[in-house]
Amino acid sequence: MSKIIGIDLGTTYSAIAQLDDLGNPEVLSSTDSNRKITASAVYTNGDKVIVGDKALDALAATSKNVISETKRQMENDVAYSVAKGEWVEKDEAEEGSYTPAQVSSFILSKLKGYTNEVQKAVITVPALFAEKARVATLDAAKLAGIEVIELINEPTAAACYYASLPSVEKITGKVLVFDLGGGTFDVTLCEVIDQKVDVITSRGDKWLGGKDFDSEILNLVNEKYKAATGEGLDLENNRLKYMEVAEQIKRTLSVKDSHAEVIEGDKGPKKIEITRAEFEQSIQMHIEKLKMLMEECIDGSGCDTKEINHTLLVGGSTRIPIINKTIEKVMGKPPLKGVNVDEAVAAGAAIYAGLKSKDSLNAAQKKAIGKVQLKDVCNFYMGTLIQRDDPVLNRKVTHNMVVVERDTKLPAEETSTVVTVYDDQESISCSITQSEGREENREFVNLIHEGELVFPDKKPKGRQVEITYKYDTSGVMHCTFKDVSSEKKYEISLRPESAEDLKKQYETIEHIVIE
Ligand SMILES: Nc1ncnc2c1ncn2[C@@H]1O[C@H](COP(=O)(O)OP(=O)(O)OP(=O)(O)O)[C@@H](O)[C@H]1O
Ligand SMILES: [Mg+2]
Repeated sequence: MSKIIGIDLGTTYSAIAQLDDLGNPEVLSSTDSNRKITASAVYTNGDKVIVGDKALDALAATSKNVISETKRQMENDVAYSVAKGEWVEKDEAEEGSYTPAQVSSFILSKLKGYTNEVQKAVITVPALFAEKARVATLDAAKLAGIEVIELINEPTAAACYYASLPSVEKITGKVLVFDLGGGTFDVTLCEVIDQKVDVITSRGDKWLGGKDFDSEILNLVNEKYKAATGEGLDLENNRLKYMEVAEQIKRTLSVKDSHAEVIEGDKGPKKIEITRAEFEQSIQMHIEKLKMLMEECIDGSGCDTKEINHTLLVGGSTRIPIINKTIEKVMGKPPLKGVNVDEAVAAGAAIYAGLKSKDSLNAAQKKAIGKVQLKDVCNFYMGTLIQRDDPVLNRKVTHNMVVVERDTKLPAEETSTVVTVYDDQESISCSITQSEGREENREFVNLIHEGELVFPDKKPKGRQVEITYKYDTSGVMHCTFKDVSSEKKYEISLRPESAEDLKKQYETIEHIVIE
């Protein structure tokens, strides 16, 4: 029988959890080591792929063959060129380059191997992951032979895990989930009542995480090496290797006030000392951003900080002392301790997978998680570009019109009507936009799809077209543009390509062995 599986596909570390016979989510250990998290790093030489910590071992000798931070590329049309050792525009990539979905599929395949009978899974994504990145994640799963039950947002999964804990059963109130990982920051406010999780709103930044802190440490190390030897480090060729060193320094500074490390550079080895105070100073700008997003999240919900009962910590970067201090300052009380910051997301995903497979749960599993419920929201404004007469400019201008509001509870279905602006107009453009703010200006929205509805006949201007956006609970949207008079439709589901199409696209990976 197919197991009940949740997967946290992280920027720096990934994890897979399964629901055990008693209904407890169990995060599985890597087959290479006893660790429950696997580095989201991939080594490839064209024939062989190595995933995890062992891939990082290859950094010193062949850093161009090591692919990391793939999650940050999921919404881009890029491919990793091993020859260049970087992500390049997909059109410019040589044959044998790897798309982000493909690299992610290697990581998923590796995780899948930690247990048998993995057919279906819930996979997590950042709350503010763009539509395109979600679809790329679904593509990656398909390539890895995993059927995705649903994609759920990482902080929502963590809240789901929190709500399942026996100690929480009687706790009622608002919980702020603070999720700071390796690549992304999400802050989500939800209400937990009798194990029912109701997401209220999320804010975040997909370019704010541990990797950015590593970069700041690397800058400090480089400056100090240069001051001591007269020459900086060769970051162009060895950046990933030095980023690993910087990460180790950062981890040590979470428990010590200073750390000295021997740095190997072109000018020989040099002992470099970094203090916690220097580190904290170097990430000050990121800290300000975190504070601002927390405040925006709380303000956006119409709540007061005092009404929030707990702050739940998720993600490895919440181990940094200054992060804890910052949360305490903003919230007026220390964050909740005791939930495993590395495992909560994968564990929550496994619980959610269980909730979605209720028919296959045994009595003990039903008892353990049966009362958990989840209601998520749409994290973006979803809209379309329309033409309107501008009386000031005295011409037609393109505007973004919102069809689904941010924070609308899922599942949702919204319909808006637009009209043609020219007599005998032959067609109407069917565009789908996404934005974090309520934008009218087309420059500030992300255009995620463009199509066209050609009218079967001619009519004077004012012809009505109904636009319906339907969001299922998995956060995948179905859009319909319907000409009201003829009922002719243009329909698009923002879903991944079929397995066959994907396979054709990725013929090259058929023979690859994943270790
Ligand atoms: N003790 C520590 N001190 C400081 N940072 C730490 C510590 N332990 C882990 N980290 C950092 O936490 C990050 C990894 O966290 P996590 O596994 O939650 O992220 P992720 O899931 O890979 O990323 P994301 O959720 O952003 O996609 C890394 O940047 C790592 O350096
Ligand atoms: Mg994470």
